[in-house]
Amino acid sequence: MKLAILSRGPELYSTQSLLRAALDDGHEVMIVDHSMCKLVIEDKPSVYFGYNNLNDLDAIIPRVGSSITYHGASVIKQFETMGVFTTVKSECLLQARNKLKSMQMLMAGGLKVPRTVFGHHSTPASELLDHFDEGKLIIKLLHGTHGLGVILAENKKNAEPMIETLQRLKERFILQEFIAESKGSDLRAIVVGGEVVASMKRVAQPGEFRSNLHRGASSIPVKLSAEEEKAAIKATQILGLGVSGVDMLQSDRGPLILEVNPSPGLEGIETTTHIDISGKIMHYIHSELDFRKITSNLF
Ligand SMILES: Nc1ncnc2c1ncn2[C@@H]1O[C@H](COP(=O)(O)OP(=O)(O)OP(=O)(O)O)[C@@H](O)[C@H]1O
Ligand SMILES: [Mg+2]
Repeated sequence: MKLAILSRGPELYSTQSLLRAALDDGHEVMIVDHSMCKLVIEDKPSVYFGYNNLNDLDAIIPRVGSSITYHGASVIKQFETMGVFTTVKSECLLQARNKLKSMQMLMAGGLKVPRTVFGHHSTPASELLDHFDEGKLIIKLLHGTHGLGVILAENKKNAEPMIETLQRLKERFILQEFIAESKGSDLRAIVVGGEVVASMKRVAQPGEFRSNLHRGASSIPVKLSAEEEKAAIKATQILGLGVSGVDMLQSDRGPLILEVNPSPGLEGIETTTHIDISGKIMHYIHSELDFRKITSNLF
């Protein structure tokens, strides 16, 4: 197979891990910085990486950071129109990066999510807060990442000035019930080709409620319950992703989906679980391409 890993960081752990797995499998592989790709739309589509016409790829593995989602999605779409297989479709990347829309889709698909409230910045804070019981609650920027932009308010009175400040700044945010039972931990499941291939529990540092590894959390491998596994697979399926990282909170009413990441980092999960996730991604691409070949021969 001839593969391209779309990545702006050739030195990054995830890029290197995928590169090694592709080479181990005997594939021809290149790292393509999608920010340097030009898309030519005329009688037939093409993608140029510098002066290099990328017209003979079998598959791409997009690793698109959130700051360049739109450009990344446009590059992926171009490859899709050229018939190149992608582990993350353009529409699905855009959908998964829209946290509010993703939550709406997950809920509509029957999955449980924490109670979440969103309103226009002109809505009085007290009205938004009326949807919650007394006690702690979470305020979350829609464009936050790595735990930055997630605030824990001790009570509604505390939350009110924070909400008003964000509204004044015209920041888009959601309010969410605080899931105390998760005790500063969450689950991360990696789903590849409709199967959970690895899972870990992330535990926040003492005194911290955010369990992001970037915020100093620790991680241990875990085996998911049947319900958690089913929820992770279904969430990935609803968002149409071939590869995903599903974040869940363990609550009294079962797993609650926090987010489905279309470009999950591999370093934390591979080093925690010692599972070769990149190898599993290669295997998945292989079987998808084989399936394509068989079906194209049939019709
Ligand atoms: N409703 C909640 N109740 C309890 N803890 C929460 C809740 N929402 C988030 N947290 C904690 O805060 C952490 C960060 O939240 P979240 O994953 O929503 O944002 P993020 O990590 O900044 O975004 P991204 O996952 O896109 O990088 C979670 O991993 C979890 O530990
Ligand atoms: Mg997160």
